[in-house]
Amino acid sequence: MSWRKHLRPGLAQLEIYDVPPSDAPTRLHANECPEPWPPAVLEALGREVAGLELNRYPDTSGRELRALLGAKHGVDPDRVVLGNGSDEVISILLTALSRGPSPAPLVVPTPTFVMYAHTATVLDVPVREVPLDARFGLDLSAMRAALPGAASCFLARPNNPTSSLFEAEQVLDLVREFPDTIFVLDEAYAAYLGRERTPLWTPDGPDNLVLMTTLSKVGLAALRLGYCIAHPELATALNKVRHPYNISATSLALATAVLRDHEAVQDAMIDAAIANRARLVELLRGLPATEVYPAHGNLVLARLDPPTRAQALVAALAERGIRIKDQSKVAGLEGCVRVSVGTSVELDHLAQALGQLEI
Ligand SMILES: Cc1ncc(COP(=O)(O)O)c(C=O)c1O
Repeated sequence: MSWRKHLRPGLAQLEIYDVPPSDAPTRLHANECPEPWPPAVLEALGREVAGLELNRYPDTSGRELRALLGAKHGVDPDRVVLGNGSDEVISILLTALSRGPSPAPLVVPTPTFVMYAHTATVLDVPVREVPLDARFGLDLSAMRAALPGAASCFLARPNNPTSSLFEAEQVLDLVREFPDTIFVLDEAYAAYLGRERTPLWTPDGPDNLVLMTTLSKVGLAALRLGYCIAHPELATALNKVRHPYNISATSLALATAVLRDHEAVQDAMIDAAIANRARLVELLRGLPATEVYPAHGNLVLARLDPPTRAQALVAALAERGIRIKDQSKVAGLEGCVRVSVGTSVELDHLAQALGQLEI
């Protein structure tokens, strides 16, 4: 036994979240924004980095960036908490909300983003999983049955990996009905809603509703920068958990410069990806015996029949330099693949490969 007896019990049941690096020419497996930044923007960002004092610590809490984000969302910057990706924000939230020795549960509809349950398990927070309905919407009565006593509930809207969009009114009903539970509305993919976006979170909304989002899906995955906007008292608690200096000076400088100077370029990149999503949906619809689900994020979920075709498709595309994600082992997603939107060139590659396959 020795030192092993001190390890947190939840760790034994977890796998490391690991994605091997890939140099495949077409990478459609990580839900990134596929569009590259134009060279002029990259040069401007390079100048930002060149101006940094690398021998100095960054700001402890990213004040300048929080001021910009506060103005963007219409809130006091003190309500904005930055994380090293929203992964870290998830961890900070669940740590703050796990009162020992037997913390109240996290509720998540499933399938959803795996890091909610993963992080809860690390922290020995029990997880109540509530299967989504057949169209990947919320099963309201099952959610109502699971929520009493829960400390938190994470709702990704749009959801990953289903790309479905939970109905705004249903989410708000739950938030109102369970005021003792913190609801984290994860809008990582909300930029891809384009004009169908209904603002669900408002600065003066219920105390128990937290907005969480990330720059990872809007062209800046390399920065590792996520944030949440919480009630001032909760934000204070989160900042006690958060490590000081958790965002590097480079990430702070680059995110600040993009928000300040390059948002129009960023919007055009998202628009291009939204247009390409429609093409990606058509390409997948061209596969025989395949159901393509409505896509609201920068990702598309498709179910192949029989289910064994999913793995075969992932393998055959990998051989042709195209990476997509096999979801067929996830409960409720038998036979499913998840394909992130690509650039026009990447989708040409995919179209050509799909044309050659007999799957
Ligand atoms: C719904 C959702 N939230 C959060 C994240 C994590 O984002 P970040 O890169 O900011 O850690 C992801 C990543 O795929 C996601 O799908």
